[in-house]
Amino acid sequence: MADTPHRVWPKAPVIYQIYPRSFHDTTGTGTGDLNGITLKLEHVATLGVDAIYVSPFYPSPFADGGYDIADHIAVHPALGTMADFDRMVARAHELGLKVIIDQVYNHTSDTAPWFVRSVMGDPDYDDFYVWRDPKPDGTAPNNWLSQFGPPAWTWNHVRRQYYLHNFTHRQPSLNLRCPAVQEQMQAIMRFWLDRGVDGFRLDAVTSFLFDESMADNPPATKAVQRSASGETFVPYTYQDHVHDILPGDGLSYMENVRRWAGQDVFLLGEVTSGNNSVELASGLSHPDRLNAAYTTDLAENRATAEAYADILSRTADPQRLGWWLSSHDQPRHADKAGDGSDRDVRFLALLLATAPGPVIVYQGEELGLSQPRLSRDDVTDPLDLLYWPDGPGREGARVPIPWGETQQRGFTQGTPWLPVDWPQGKSIAVQTISAHSNLGFYRRAMTFRRERGIGDMVLDDWSHECDVIRLSYGIPGEHANGRIEVVLNFGTKTARVRKDPALASADFEGTHMPGRCGAIWVG
Ligand code: NOJ
Repeated sequence: MADTPHRVWPKAPVIYQIYPRSFHDTTGTGTGDLNGITLKLEHVATLGVDAIYVSPFYPSPFADGGYDIADHIAVHPALGTMADFDRMVARAHELGLKVIIDQVYNHTSDTAPWFVRSVMGDPDYDDFYVWRDPKPDGTAPNNWLSQFGPPAWTWNHVRRQYYLHNFTHRQPSLNLRCPAVQEQMQAIMRFWLDRGVDGFRLDAVTSFLFDESMADNPPATKAVQRSASGETFVPYTYQDHVHDILPGDGLSYMENVRRWAGQDVFLLGEVTSGNNSVELASGLSHPDRLNAAYTTDLAENRATAEAYADILSRTADPQRLGWWLSSHDQPRHADKAGDGSDRDVRFLALLLATAPGPVIVYQGEELGLSQPRLSRDDVTDPLDLLYWPDGPGREGARVPIPWGETQQRGFTQGTPWLPVDWPQGKSIAVQTISAHSNLGFYRRAMTFRRERGIGDMVLDDWSHECDVIRLSYGIPGEHANGRIEVVLNFGTKTARVRKDPALASADFEGTHMPGRCGAIWVG
């Protein structure tokens, strides 16, 4: 059993997301592995972040990139062993990094033994999943759609019932009201906590519970559609998700999760679904519930000043919202929220480094990588394949990151599972030796935040007419009387500011801050 001094968390940590298959390969299979993470953790530590968050590395048929788990307490043999996992945790702690791992409680793989037994009608597993009889005419129990678009119900001819799935039909949804399922969730948490992890990223928490009446969702009004997350070519955005996500007791379910985990474990929830996302995330994160939850709003809305201010206006405690721009599900933000230039990369890095709550930096964004183009033959992601070529798609962001400039960019000695055609000069090796690289800026910005901490935020100024946001923060701890001022100029016009910032994302002299620039003053 590991001891846990590492579980003293800052309120708003910076968390580096690692998608293991695409981080670093030590075996020449073309797929990243846990030893690859261990080997390269030093790079992560130099970024000034507080923690790593590791996406699923569990046994899985990869019908949804590893988020279809066949065994929640084992390591996928292609990614390593349990001893490799233990070494990774030990190395992270040695480097002062806490470890968060992904936990998927909403569903399993359809190859998971629980599901196989449930299908066979084994009484111990009968109630593990959400089974419902068909309507008298044989059709599905209601009109619910999976988040990927197709109906949320798939027929199983052995049980002669439908099962619910919020994502692909290969990911049957667990019945999280079932006491035996809850016992399993606690046992899974305990297993990983005993191996020394410090926190969990909880997948798809908004899908945990649903209205037991199973009433049809009404169509989304135009206003609901506008505020909903997701691409409009996915029919999920056509519904108002009043019955399939988090009914009355849905938010307080997180109090169970907190009880199972204990007080010192960092719990970060992912809100993917439907409308009212910011309000849902705020209700999920609460002193007795999750530390924080995050939505797709800022990333999907291209990190505009308006989107940022809108999110801030919809939550009472922005310190309990997670802030991020890229992930394994979203296109790289250098050219989605920016124009791909180094200037925009650094401006957006400063936006993140001064965000009020936990920040998630996705592997490779510190290099300013743009979204790679993949051909249909390269792609394995079920969502991308369903809507190809409508995009931008999810798999591009999963292209392995460039460590060096050699043919496979130092990612693998073999053939990478996705082509790594990065432009020359973007690699960690090159950016490490250049004092003025994006990587250098990320290090400065995140280290600045880590050293001073982030206190309570005040939104000092923002109006729809102007693209400049002014924020200020208290500084916690020994510098408690000080304040940090932040100006983010999202537009292209010059903004009037104080002189001599402590850190700026682009050069300027005097009081004229150029467009697409952010800066911080201490005092
Ligand atoms: C969110 C994950 O980030 C995504 O990759 C996955 O497809 C869904 N949840 C389902 O687990």
